[in-house]
Amino acid sequence: MNVKVFVIGGGGRCHAICESLRKSKKVTQIFAAPGNAGIAQIAECVNIDETDITALLDFAKREQIDLTVVGPEISLVAGVVDVFRANGLKIFGATKSAAKIESSKEFAKELMKKYDIPTANYRVFDDYNSAIQYVTEQGTPIVLKYDGLAAGKGVVVAEDFEQAKHALQEMLLHRKFGQGRVVVEEFLLGQEFSFMCFVNGKNVFPMELAQDHKRAFEGDKGENTGGMGAYSPLTFVTEEDKKFAFENIMQKTASALCSESCEFSGVLYGGLVKTQNGIKVIEFNARFGDPETEVVLPRLKSDLYDIFCDVLDGKIPEIQWDKRAALGIVLASKGYPAAYEKGFEIKGLDRVDAQVFQMGTKLENGKLLANGGRVLFMLALDDNLNEARKKVLDAISKIECNNLFYRKDIGWQAI
Ligand code: AMP
Ligand code: GLY
Repeated sequence: MNVKVFVIGGGGRCHAICESLRKSKKVTQIFAAPGNAGIAQIAECVNIDETDITALLDFAKREQIDLTVVGPEISLVAGVVDVFRANGLKIFGATKSAAKIESSKEFAKELMKKYDIPTANYRVFDDYNSAIQYVTEQGTPIVLKYDGLAAGKGVVVAEDFEQAKHALQEMLLHRKFGQGRVVVEEFLLGQEFSFMCFVNGKNVFPMELAQDHKRAFEGDKGENTGGMGAYSPLTFVTEEDKKFAFENIMQKTASALCSESCEFSGVLYGGLVKTQNGIKVIEFNARFGDPETEVVLPRLKSDLYDIFCDVLDGKIPEIQWDKRAALGIVLASKGYPAAYEKGFEIKGLDRVDAQVFQMGTKLENGKLLANGGRVLFMLALDDNLNEARKKVLDAISKIECNNLFYRKDIGWQAI
């Protein structure tokens, strides 16, 4: 077999996908658009924007790509899966209508309400005064979610009324993110975790669970980020919990999407929370999580290419996992998730004894430069999570760069 795969995207998640595909016995060539400096070591990077559907399609046709895999939500929302399928090309990812489960908070909440999928109580507003009145009635803490893509910054967990008011002003009066409405929802207390499944219609196949660390600083302090580190497997979610979440949340949601004529295919990501009243949904994503993918896929012992094909072909894939724990820490640019500078040189990667997924890097005149908010993801596997973390911290100590920060406490809930 001589299989050519095309991965759309460029961050650490796509680096991890490419790395797993590289291990496949069938895959002989991997292309990535746009890729990054790390991906370039294992794939041929092509300089096409991840939303330039025409150029992506032309490329896939010209290269006679056997399978395309989509990383980021912006490509899904732009309709890349719909266009590839309409042109008879095989692609793994959600269609534009199914991706609404991620791109519209209101759609996701309504679906959950209609199909009795456990989630926080909520109401939706486009008027500032009504929203303020509702917040006054409900009290704080309370959660405000801009209904639309806001680069991970559209969610505010308001601890007091002033914070809630400020956030509602930004979202509904100053229109910071655009013209979208705002979901105001009940605050759910509990440990959060991520449940990703391979899905095709009503066929749902679970991956191992992972936990992300969204806050910028140690002790879960600071602003929400795209994720500062992750680990897998989890100890606080029992087999019974996982079974509940699989049947009552993941499978039920996939079936609900079929009933609503926006059948899901691709990776359905449940951002879940284990509360005193059971497991509930915080959010859904229509794609692999980042950085969860960087700890889950390295534990996959089966062939990822086969899994993608089997799921797409309606077959039952073989999915085996490494028992060892995986833990990874993000090195981010100082200032992230707010403004940060780019272009700082990174040295020492050749000396580290850990797997590195590059998140936001570029190569310029032979130098590796930081080129994003999240820059590197350093990963280790070990029988013991604490040992895995020690290995990662040791690897990080060998990296030289003046403008990076990271959390030393990734996995604290389990260590
Ligand atoms: P989201 O983009 O919906 O995942 O929200 C980002 C983060 O905000 C989540 O990972 C949670 O930490 C927090 N969050 C969102 N919704 C709630 C909620 N209803 N209760 C508590 N925390 C929440
Ligand atoms: N780690 C959260 C996400 O991928 O959205």
